[in-house]
Amino acid sequence: MYLITGSTGMTGLAVLEYLVSIGYTKKVKCIVRSSSDLSKHDHIKIPIEYIECDLECLVDMSHNQGEEIINPLNAIIDKALIDVDVILHIASIKYSKAIIELAKKHEVKRVVLVHTALMYSKYYKYAKNYQRIEGEIIVEKGVNFTILRPTVLYGNQQDNLIHHIFEGLTQRKVYVIQGIYDVYYQPTYVGDLVQAIFGVIDNEDCYYETFLLSGQEATRYIDMVKMIRKILKTRNLILRIPFYLVNMKLRVEAIRNHEEKPSYKELKRQTEDRRFAHGKATEYFGYAPITLYEGLIKQCDSYKLGQVKQ
Ligand SMILES: NC(=O)c1ccc[n+]([C@@H]2O[C@H](COP(=O)([O-])OP(=O)(O)OC[C@H]3O[C@@H](n4cnc5c(N)ncnc54)[C@H](OP(=O)(O)O)[C@@H]3O)[C@@H](O)[C@H]2O)c1
Repeated sequence: MYLITGSTGMTGLAVLEYLVSIGYTKKVKCIVRSSSDLSKHDHIKIPIEYIECDLECLVDMSHNQGEEIINPLNAIIDKALIDVDVILHIASIKYSKAIIELAKKHEVKRVVLVHTALMYSKYYKYAKNYQRIEGEIIVEKGVNFTILRPTVLYGNQQDNLIHHIFEGLTQRKVYVIQGIYDVYYQPTYVGDLVQAIFGVIDNEDCYYETFLLSGQEATRYIDMVKMIRKILKTRNLILRIPFYLVNMKLRVEAIRNHEEKPSYKELKRQTEDRRFAHGKATEYFGYAPITLYEGLIKQCDSYKLGQVKQ
């Protein structure tokens, strides 16, 4: 049986939709929070057993140098692991170490961990922490895990980047790009991530391996915006604000509002190159991401559907 974390998020939902699409009818277990919006699963016609648990409750072995804290919520998680063969841990890398510990304890056959290419960032403040977590997991040999690291995800209305471009171009005649005009992105279509998750599960070559999953091609932010404008058939004027002006604006705003000034790293992060190679994934399990244009067309359909429903 599958145990899924993050099932109400963009990827988790796409995983459940994929299972429905292949005619999967067996029960799955999902760890959710009391605040999770379960109505997102209304259209998922497979039996779901919910385990209500904030993953923060899991013992963080890394903080406790291997000493287990007695936590009553662990009993709930232990119960959740009964009859589970495969864990799809999608919620966050923050809990991966604890998930691996649980998998080991319950002799779960397979674990797929969805992490992030952000761990390679020179400027993202948690990148080093993510590297440390992965480093600790990679030396584990007691559990058959695979780590997948997508780049910026897109594909439906829950994404954090491209959905906002669709909205901006639809709602405003003038679309302003602040500082990131020339920054390269290689976004990962969520459907490709889902294919990868199910592509590695039964592939023994992928045990104990890590894979970067980027989109088929890299594109500058401005070209992505233009592509979406073409798909939406809008005629927005695109205005570019250079990075040094954005930098100045943020600093002045911070002084005015008596806030902490954005750090050099926070600002540099915005202009960081987000291109990544995915050749290893192609070699190991035939990862073949769709083109950005194809992905954007799919996203446009889902965007328009969302507009109609509102
Ligand atoms: N989005 C991106 O651009 C991107 C890029 C690279 C990698 N990733 C990684 O890919 C994975 C999936 O991303 P996503 O964008 O699909 O996720 P998402 O839409 O942000 O959803 C996160 C999911 O995790 C659940 N969750 C978070 N914290 C939890 C906790 N403490 N206890 C229980 N459940 C918790 C959320 O539940 P609630 O419904 O209760 O909030 C939600 O179902 C994540 O690990 C993310 O770091 C994402």
